[in-house]
Amino acid sequence: MKQITSPDTQRLIDDMVETMREYNGAGLAAPQVHTLQQICVIEVNGNPRYPDAPSIPLTVLINPVVTPLTSEMDDGWEGCLSVPDMRGVVPRYTAVRLEAYGRDGERIDTVAKEFFARVIQHETDHLHGIVYVDRMRDLSTLTHLAEWNKHWLGNEEQDD
Ligand code: NI
Repeated sequence: MKQITSPDTQRLIDDMVETMREYNGAGLAAPQVHTLQQICVIEVNGNPRYPDAPSIPLTVLINPVVTPLTSEMDDGWEGCLSVPDMRGVVPRYTAVRLEAYGRDGERIDTVAKEFFARVIQHETDHLHGIVYVDRMRDLSTLTHLAEWNKHWLGNEEQDD
């Protein structure tokens, strides 16, 4: 891998952030832009694709290593820019240790829980060629976005 601070790597990160924002992704991994580097970006801030999701500040992860801190998994809905217009229920560990480098080469070593842990697992899976559909236990929940909006988002909005 090139130096983190090299112009090429910094430009790639900028392009990934731009693409993630343009398509309202909660995150984006380098393989999704046809680049085989261990880099992903995450950001959730008033995302129209995930209106009920908690905010996550812009996070750049380079060479991330994710270790589950519990055997407990929660089911939650996920979508993915690589699986357009679909949603499915995916089990994810509720707490993980995240070790990585940030975009300035700084060490990241932190514990992530709940939704942030979910997004980290989703994005780092991409770095290993795994999409959320591969993690689903019950493919019958795989739902087209139009149907999902009608049945699930509508219900959630009533709870707000
Ligand atoms: Ni994805």
